Amino acid sequence: MVKGGRRLEGEVTVSGSKNSSLPILAATILTQGLNTITSVPDLLDIQTMLRMLRSLNIRAEYSQPHTVRVWVNHYIKHVAPYELVTKMRASFFIIGPLLAKTGFAKIPLPGGCAIGSRPVDIHLKGLQALGADVELEHGFVKVQARKLKGDRILLDFPSVGATETIMMAATLAEGETLIENAAREPEITDLADYLNKCGAQISGAGSEQIKILGVKELKASDHNVIPDRIEAGTLMVAAAISRGNILIKNVNVAHVDSTILKLQQSGVTVEVKGDQVRVKASHRPKAVDIKTQPYPGFPTDMQPQLAALMSLAEGTSVISEGVFENRFMHVHELKRMGADIRLEGQSAIVNGVAKLQGAPVKSRDLRAGAALMLAGLGAEGETLIEDIDRFIERGYEKLDKKLIALGAEIKELRNIAEYEDEDNA
Ligand code: UD1
Repeated sequence: MVKGGRRLEGEVTVSGSKNSSLPILAATILTQGLNTITSVPDLLDIQTMLRMLRSLNIRAEYSQPHTVRVWVNHYIKHVAPYELVTKMRASFFIIGPLLAKTGFAKIPLPGGCAIGSRPVDIHLKGLQALGADVELEHGFVKVQARKLKGDRILLDFPSVGATETIMMAATLAEGETLIENAAREPEITDLADYLNKCGAQISGAGSEQIKILGVKELKASDHNVIPDRIEAGTLMVAAAISRGNILIKNVNVAHVDSTILKLQQSGVTVEVKGDQVRVKASHRPKAVDIKTQPYPGFPTDMQPQLAALMSLAEGTSVISEGVFENRFMHVHELKRMGADIRLEGQSAIVNGVAKLQGAPVKSRDLRAGAALMLAGLGAEGETLIEDIDRFIERGYEKLDKKLIALGAEIKELRNIAEYEDEDNA
């Protein structure tokens, strides 16, 4: 339950990146020995990945808060449990490392999810190009190869996950792999940095063309994960929507460039100093148009949060989604709070309103949930967001506590009856 209308003020520190930690943990499968990964956020999704590694006979656990140790020995199992892959799509990341390390992997198909069908065809085409046999049977993908061989692979779309899958598999392939039209997200570069510390030979990560020279084996290594750019962006919007003044620490400013630019265009003050960003706002934002694109374009993972901010803007903004085909679930919920938004194909036309009203709403995916929390901060009255444990808490480390420390009024309710009781009181 979020009570709106409080100006957020103070300092907050961004956690390590979830979307970097997940593939890096999967990549430990490629190595031999003890890996120590630091700045790993304490999240349900990370716990799911650690359970996945343990199910493969790998010791993986938090040794301290934010430090995960992964011991990889000789004998690794090949089959991923159905229950874990259906829980979290990123579990599918293990397919590339498992295939490269052991020559065989059997992974359940991840299936659809709240933000579109999200197929894995680009991942599988890439593995095929490296010489793997791919079979789909009874809801599982079976991939096998006696020895992977490097090749030139042109991606149909710069998919983040597919770039990571192919890059991981190619580290132990014979010869050279060239990934063209590769995703350029910072998480790709972070994964390549970790793998290179392990002895891989990857160059060009962060550009459209990544070259991987296969090596015989990888040793375990230590690695510190990059800060979470989407959490940083979400906190920036929290400052803007509450007309507050927040100093956000542990930000890689280059990674949040496009978000900073949009906030500045909408009249929000953003001051950058080293790895710290101060975000201040005292007025209604001005409407700006947004089009999500692969990095370095505006991130799709910040689109719902900006839609929440634009709901309260002066003027009309057009928000176009260029990455996922079905990522406007938050729009229906924002409308329940009084937002004036019309959907037209892959665009949302947002006519800013002067006020949003608190309402009971449902969070249907991670970033949509974050957007509703932000809308709640900027709304009049109380916003009840359901299912935060299934969505927001999966991807944001202690977001509610961080916002409370900045002055937000947020209360976690055990069940909906508590809300109704308060209403009747
Ligand atoms: C990753 C991020 C997610 C982010 C997304 C886009 C992780 C754990 N998740 O997801 O938070 O929203 O990047 O920045 O890092 N596609 C295909 N076939 C494929 C793979 C993808 O058609 O084989 C399509 C998807 O349906 C989607 C688009 O490509 O429309 C982008 O997906 P992708 O970049 O692969 O996203 P993820 O890696 O799943």
